[in-house]
Amino acid sequence: MASPESRPAPSVPTRIVRVDLAPRPDGAARAYDVLIGKGLLAAIREILASHQIDGPYSIINDVRLRDWLHDLENRLERVSLSSVPSGESSKSIEQVATLLQRLAAQKIPRSGTIIALGGGVIGDLGGFVAATYLRGIALVQVPTTLLAMVDSSVGGKTGVNLPEGKNLVGAFHQPRLVVADLATLATLPAREFAAGMAEVIKYGAIRDRALFDRVANGVTPVDDDMADIVEKCVTIKARIVERDEFETKGERALLNFGHTLGHAIEKATGYTRYLHGEAIALGMRAAAWLSVWHPETRLPEADARAIEQALRASNLPLTLDPTIDRATILAALGNDKKVAADGGNRWVLLKKLGEATSGNQVDESLVERSLDLLRP
Ligand SMILES: NC(=O)c1ccc[n+]([C@@H]2O[C@H](COP(=O)([O-])OP(=O)(O)OC[C@H]3O[C@@H](n4cnc5c(N)ncnc54)[C@H](O)[C@@H]3O)[C@@H](O)[C@H]2O)c1
Ligand SMILES: [Zn+2]
Repeated sequence: MASPESRPAPSVPTRIVRVDLAPRPDGAARAYDVLIGKGLLAAIREILASHQIDGPYSIINDVRLRDWLHDLENRLERVSLSSVPSGESSKSIEQVATLLQRLAAQKIPRSGTIIALGGGVIGDLGGFVAATYLRGIALVQVPTTLLAMVDSSVGGKTGVNLPEGKNLVGAFHQPRLVVADLATLATLPAREFAAGMAEVIKYGAIRDRALFDRVANGVTPVDDDMADIVEKCVTIKARIVERDEFETKGERALLNFGHTLGHAIEKATGYTRYLHGEAIALGMRAAAWLSVWHPETRLPEADARAIEQALRASNLPLTLDPTIDRATILAALGNDKKVAADGGNRWVLLKKLGEATSGNQVDESLVERSLDLLRP
């Protein structure tokens, strides 16, 4: 194995998005940087040193990312590992217990750092472990899916699932640093990349017309402006999280465009038929037309069609699998987490491409009409 010293870090062009959160009451800083660039893992040692993030390090990684793991591991000293099976089923209390015991056995101290290397599953799981081990230790997110780069690694939501439902256990635990190495996207399956594109399209639709127009004809992981696209998405998320860190003011809810119905579709299909991004693509198509029909938003029809075209260009689904029972989806809509105190769903709708509003009530008849639209 080459020693870290024998591998000088290349200087990697890096975009930096600062998530500017207020310090803790005791004065400890909570603001952090999201670094975006191709080849950042090769410079991880210098990156961590320059952010004063010290070892010992405990890497929690998706077992499928072995090659990228070696890249990381070989460049760090005082490092231990825990590999976790791929897939949503690893976001479990059992896996949390296993990892916490591993950290204790590895004697990771309060001053140590957890590095979560993987997609949103590893980020949520590793983040929750970091939030709870010794009442919270430093966390570095190293997202390796497009979805994790633009969404789950930023903002501090961590957690796992229960048999009773998804994300029912969790904590807010902001990372100390996020390192998004675009090189890792080279091995990401196309279907997973497309699912991440659904979130990218979402950011454009709710906040940034120019971003929407850029991605509307499709994107590939090797596009020259990939760093720019990820930076724009992360910036939108960072600004929203800064203003509404704990989702108490309605602004963070804007990130749920397409998610009210999307979550219901995921739930109704047991989280197996669709990837999250695919389900929210369907949810965004429905929410776009709800925005056209809703008397307070009146989205131009051309904008709804532009959203459909963008989803199509990213190979995302526009129609629901006909074997899915519509009553099950309607039932699942009834107990979405985002249901308001009065029992009705609150929808994020668009006024125009690039501008969204949250908290909208939508008549049941319109919801059903939007489901008709998703028929193949
Ligand atoms: N915390 C948040 O704010 C937040 C936001 C959105 C989603 N999430 C959570 O994120 C999870 C979904 O994340 P995801 O879509 O990244 O899924 P994931 O972590 O399951 O990764 C998707 C698949 O890609 C594989 N993979 C990951 N990176 C790879 C790479 N570079 N090369 C090859 N294969 C790779 C994984 O093994 C897995 O099979 C869900 O659990 C969801 O609840 C959290
Ligand atoms: Zn999402």
